[in-house]
Amino acid sequence: MSIAVYPGSFDPVTNGHLDIIRRAAELFDQVVIGVLNNSAKTPLFSVEERVNILEKATRDISGVKVMSFSGLSVDFAKQCEANAIVRGLRAVTDFEYELQMAQTNRILATNVDTVFLTTSLEFAYLSSTTVKEVAKFDGDISQFVPAFVAEAIHAKMKTAE
Ligand code: PNS
Repeated sequence: MSIAVYPGSFDPVTNGHLDIIRRAAELFDQVVIGVLNNSAKTPLFSVEERVNILEKATRDISGVKVMSFSGLSVDFAKQCEANAIVRGLRAVTDFEYELQMAQTNRILATNVDTVFLTTSLEFAYLSSTTVKEVAKFDGDISQFVPAFVAEAIHAKMKTAE
């Protein structure tokens, strides 16, 4: 059975992430989405909220599981018995960071390879940071995230005011 993990912050999940998840689910028998619980960052959504959002957003995709994790992605991959880490590559600007991370991960765990999926062109501009920026100024984020995620973002931003 081929198992891959797809680690990330997913704060919040975007249509670009969902595109990568759908395509990864075609390539692997199981894709475990790993939501990083990073105490060094102050995310918009708690790790539990991000897991719940991802579960709802991916419930129509078979072979996908959502979990949170702390620590190294390679350790999460080992815990899931995965031999691949999936990451999306949007543009050259992503490449340097992703290459460095993939090479470090390969040294840390020689049996875990990173598989890059190039983001579909329609999502090449999209990032969680952009979505939050647009939402902060009450812009229309309906093309960037599923409708229920857009609602959750607006609601969360209202309570933070
Ligand atoms: O969605 P993001 O923020 O681009 O995801 C980054 C993530 C979570 C994949 C990366 O920061 C990560 O793997 N963090 C866990 C610690 C780790 O394994 N770092 C890589 C070794 S350099």
